[in-house]
Amino acid sequence: MAYFCVSGFSPILMLIFLVGLKNAKSCLGDCNLYEGSWIFDSSYPLYDSDKCPFPIEKTYDCKSNGRPDTQYLKYRWQPTGCDLPRFNGQDFLKRYQGKSILFVGDSLSRDQYFSFLCLLSTSVPNLKTNLTEVGFISTFTIPEYELKVVLDRNVLLVDLVDTAEGRILDLDSVKQDAGNWTGFDLMIFNTFHWWFDRPPHQPWDYFKIGNKLYKDFDRLEAFEIAVGTWGKWVDANVDTSKTKVFFQGFSPDHYDPAAWGQPKANKCVNQTTPILGSKYPGQYPTREMTALKRALSKIKKPVTLLDITGLSLLRKDGHPSIYGYSGAKE
Ligand SMILES: *[C@@H]1O[C@H](CO)[C@@H](O)[C@H](O)[C@H]1NC(C)=O
Ligand SMILES: *[C@@H]1O[C@H](CO)[C@@H](O)[C@H](O)[C@H]1NC(C)=O
Ligand SMILES: *[C@@H]1O[C@H](CO)[C@@H](O)[C@H](O)[C@H]1NC(C)=O
Repeated sequence: MAYFCVSGFSPILMLIFLVGLKNAKSCLGDCNLYEGSWIFDSSYPLYDSDKCPFPIEKTYDCKSNGRPDTQYLKYRWQPTGCDLPRFNGQDFLKRYQGKSILFVGDSLSRDQYFSFLCLLSTSVPNLKTNLTEVGFISTFTIPEYELKVVLDRNVLLVDLVDTAEGRILDLDSVKQDAGNWTGFDLMIFNTFHWWFDRPPHQPWDYFKIGNKLYKDFDRLEAFEIAVGTWGKWVDANVDTSKTKVFFQGFSPDHYDPAAWGQPKANKCVNQTTPILGSKYPGQYPTREMTALKRALSKIKKPVTLLDITGLSLLRKDGHPSIYGYSGAKE
């Protein structure tokens, strides 16, 4: 899965809100925000994870889990063609007063969600906040600004149905959960890594496509079909004049240290710096990205891809690794 240490890696969100800014287009021109490099910035991090008003899930809380280095907290994303304004929480709260934001997806969404809540909570002194969790849904509110930020933990987006025959992953439907996805001003979805899980981790027994059940199926193709199904839901159900819709691309793992010239290292254990420069020396997941872009291109309504793959590839230092919950995670 794609875990990142909390507070080491919140720029994805800043991109979202920049893209969401009304005049972002005119101030950033046609700059490609996703092409650039990580720059050391001594004024970072933007928040201290100890100051979050709620406990951070252990998986992401590298600092409390004993990670000794801190340099990984001090990198800022610098696009090649333009400068990003520094995230300003107070300004954000004013602009999003009375609004609601929804995240839906796997650990990438969860990670970004909690980083974002910390970022907002610590932006104004003594801000009152409220986080509640019911089932798979977390709801965070800042009453003073009537702002609501919700997370729906849904790792595959499409329906997973328990039947007498087994657990069926229905690639043609999102109706099981989609009732939770209405009434928001901004929505950010993602799914990826779970599509490639194998037993015993994979949470389904059969794929269902049309009226047919399959014991297995090409995983990338299944992923593409599912994103397409979600896209059809957007086309049929979302009023994009009221709701902005984003899809977060995926964030690859860092299992193979030979990719950055350290064949003797153990995955990303003890990596303390990003890859500098803008080019990842290892392989870029072109096939996967092509499948995702193809699925998104069939959606008629405006959906913005947050193309984070390249920028997160450079962050071999961003994962909890041995400072995550259960030891060596990528
Ligand atoms: C937080 O929100 C929950 C759910 O809406 C509510 O029941 C609870 O009273 C709130 N807590 C505070 C301190 O406002
Ligand atoms: C919301 O999602 C939960 C699963 O997390 C599901 O059981 C429930 O039916 C959904 N509610 C709506 C209104 O779709
Ligand atoms: C990582 O660093 C820790 C603490 O310095 C050390 O004990 C461990 O051997 C290192 N692991 C690897 C794979 O380099």
